Amino acid sequence: MARAYNRAIADERPDTAPPELTRPQIERLESIYGNRYLLEPAPDHKLPRMGMSAAEAKGLIEEEIVLDGLPTRNLATFVTTWMEPEADELIRQTLRVNFIDHAEYPQSAEIEQRCIRMIADLFHAPGETTGARTQGSSEAIMLGALSLKWRWRARREAQGKAIDRPNLVFGGDVHVVWEKFCRYFDVEPRIVPLKPDKYTIGPEDVEPHVDENTIGVAAVLGTTFTGHADDIRGINDHLVALKHERGLDVPLHVDAASGGFVWPFLYPDSEWDFRLEQVRSINVSGHKFGLVYPGIGWLVFREKDDLPEDLVFYENYLGKRDATFTLNFSTGSAMVLAQYYNFARLGHAGYRYVMEIMKYNARLLAKEIVACDLELVGSEQDEQLPLVAFKLAGEHPYDEFDIAAQLAAERGWMVPAYTLPPNAEHVKIMRVLVRETLGNTLITKLGRDIAQACATLAKKGGVHPVERKRHVKTNTGF
Ligand SMILES: Cc1ncc(COP(=O)(O)O)c(C=O)c1O
Repeated sequence: MARAYNRAIADERPDTAPPELTRPQIERLESIYGNRYLLEPAPDHKLPRMGMSAAEAKGLIEEEIVLDGLPTRNLATFVTTWMEPEADELIRQTLRVNFIDHAEYPQSAEIEQRCIRMIADLFHAPGETTGARTQGSSEAIMLGALSLKWRWRARREAQGKAIDRPNLVFGGDVHVVWEKFCRYFDVEPRIVPLKPDKYTIGPEDVEPHVDENTIGVAAVLGTTFTGHADDIRGINDHLVALKHERGLDVPLHVDAASGGFVWPFLYPDSEWDFRLEQVRSINVSGHKFGLVYPGIGWLVFREKDDLPEDLVFYENYLGKRDATFTLNFSTGSAMVLAQYYNFARLGHAGYRYVMEIMKYNARLLAKEIVACDLELVGSEQDEQLPLVAFKLAGEHPYDEFDIAAQLAAERGWMVPAYTLPPNAEHVKIMRVLVRETLGNTLITKLGRDIAQACATLAKKGGVHPVERKRHVKTNTGF
């Protein structure tokens, strides 16, 4: 090594190492030792003229992404951050498979169908049904809501009625994707505002908004904000009554993005799915409590007829006639196979075991939290996602955003703080997702860290706005 070093700078200083090397000297050494990327800004707005070695490209990226948060310390996200090594290996092996190429990869397509059948069965579909694999719940919701619009239009056309003013009814507690759908696909959003002390919706909220132009009502099983469910049974009963009394057949779509893999295992007797007459379609994110990495989601219909034939495209793809019902086309099959891995590996009992652990640990954290002048949003009796949503009790010289900032600064925990949608926008909430990776030891530490952050704030008052801006995650997390 010393010889190489001397050779590289021999022209300038043949015998002794200079106190400081010139840039050309450093560059000559680089040709021996590599890692040129350490000397230059990362490729930014143009393809670099020449590339670099594989090891250097990997190093360049790995070194930069240390600035990203640690997924396992991200307590805001619903999305899976850990899978078993066998699943990781399966995913690695199948990353190169394009799922859409059913002719070439027929078994992956068959496995997708098995997953759809299993999910439909879990959600109590009454008979044979259909569905789709999607990139996540957002794509599933777009497709489900399109189906609502198509079916409404067909009904109206058959009655010779106007089709120019479709509307969709949902609560302010939904994910932004529902408003996105309305804007992208020209549907009037009828958003039921929350109440200052009620953060989900029920039949009495929906009732004034539904009319003959309503393509459907969307209800949430496990809201992003507090993890509670809308009163889906109550909304269903109202829609059933509407059908019998006024002849208005308004379908109900359940956004079970997070709750779809929680309720069947923690609250099996609670009816929110196809056991209810008006529920025609359901979406669920495989990458949330389906326990698969992003991006995998599912859409299932109650019956085959709930998917309008007109939305399905048939094409000849690489020699085979294929039906597609998606917004995307090419995508990997790895996450479909990973979902199937979880179904086969865990079965009903395994999913229940995992969900019970999360719920148990959420209760443990709730106990720690109420001990430090914070109050829970909801009660332990509520049906809820495995999370703890909380806010400050009483008056303090600091608020929830300060606690989030202090906690991030002291211990690196990413706990979001956010305000609720209208008309509950004055309510500030913090929320911890209790995923599989947040076990007993970490829960206890987190509880103590929250108490410590509050104690620090009680002494020093709220944190500086700059610190707040730097540290606090002010959206709900996804
Ligand atoms: C209730 C709800 N619906 C829809 C979505 C969107 O899901 P995805 O991220 O799978 O597209 C989310 C994401 O957090 C959600 O919580």
